[in-house]
Amino acid sequence: MKNILVTGGAGFIGSNFINYILDKRDDYFIVNLDKLTYAGNLENLIPSEGKKNYQFIRGDICNAELIDYLFNKYKIKFVINFAAESHVDRSILGSEVFFRSNVIGTNVLLEAARRYESEKFLQVSTDEVYGSLGTDGLFTETTLLHPNSPYSSSKAGADLMALSFHHTYGVPVLITRCSNNYGPYQFPEKLIPLMIINTLNDKKLPVYGDGQNVRDWIYVIDHNKALEAVFEKGKPGEVYNIGASNEMPNIKIVKLILKELGKSEGLIKYVKDRLGHDRRYAIDSSKIAKELGWKPVFEFEEALSHTIKWYVENKNWWNRIISGEYQKYYRVQYGSR
Ligand code: NAD
Ligand code: DAU
Repeated sequence: MKNILVTGGAGFIGSNFINYILDKRDDYFIVNLDKLTYAGNLENLIPSEGKKNYQFIRGDICNAELIDYLFNKYKIKFVINFAAESHVDRSILGSEVFFRSNVIGTNVLLEAARRYESEKFLQVSTDEVYGSLGTDGLFTETTLLHPNSPYSSSKAGADLMALSFHHTYGVPVLITRCSNNYGPYQFPEKLIPLMIINTLNDKKLPVYGDGQNVRDWIYVIDHNKALEAVFEKGKPGEVYNIGASNEMPNIKIVKLILKELGKSEGLIKYVKDRLGHDRRYAIDSSKIAKELGWKPVFEFEEALSHTIKWYVENKNWWNRIISGEYQKYYRVQYGSR
């Protein structure tokens, strides 16, 4: 049995990962530690509730005493760190909590991994640490880090710290850098769920700038399978890019969502650009394909359509979210638009 501390497992990617992995493997015992910030939601984990090899703990990764207690109590030998403040626009509104959770929190976990001689520490990072691309080229694992937002700089800081713990103390750190995810349970501050929900509610769709910024999209289950491959077979001290070679300008995605839901493009509203908005991300994931045999399997339009269907069928899930703290955030971010 592998005793694994999974942090941030009540968020979008972490909950999809736990539901996926517990369905598949009974050789993992998962302790899910999550602070339940605005982005954490235990409803995401209903498929895993009650399983013998699953335990949820509410708590903060910055709390060193709690982390020590959990490593001791559950004989933790493995860590998968999803916990983070994850939204770029929120980091532009206020950065402090990003550095606390994403940098200090990762430091607390790494220190515990060092003391308890962890067998693996998987740091779930992002392609945003590389900064922005021009019209061509791809991010590889050797691209220089050039993070442009408070969010991405906090993630880059955590990556460098994790690699230094490998180099200095021999902590068996693995780092993954994935592109933009989409799928069920994504908090509706992110592009795809926000546009789906606004379309369903006949609200304006706020497209930043000229709508031509490009992101490289991957279905969340493909990301989770890549994380499983890195966790099982990755080489400590290595970085693995994860992506599905699916670049798309934002406006194209917004139009696909409108088409799928049978609504007019008149709902689109071009709004003021995001500060410091990265123009283009595109990932070269040939290393993980070659070395670990992982490849994405989901086709974009089909998985997007499945995702839209999930939001249509799970209105209660997002209605509870958009009637809470989200309203305040939405007003600050988008004004009365
Ligand atoms: P999310 O915002 O949906 O979830 C983050 C989770 O972490 C929430 O459940 C939250 O409660 C928890 N959390 C935050 N601070 C915490 C703390 N101090 N202690 C304990 N728990 C805390 O994020 P997500 O989109 O699921 O992203 C998960 C990870 O994947 C992040 O590290 C993010 O940087 C990375 N990532 C995300 C994407 C993407 O497209 N969403 C792509 C690549 C990498
Ligand atoms: O690349 C991986 C990253 O992807 C992750 O590390 C981050 O955690 C995740 O939030 C995501 O960051 P982005 O900033 O790329 O995602 P977001 O969904 O916020 O925005 C995607 C694109 O859509 C971006 O170019 C900004 C644009 N956008 C976004 C919103 C919310 C709009 O035009 N309008 C919007 O209202």
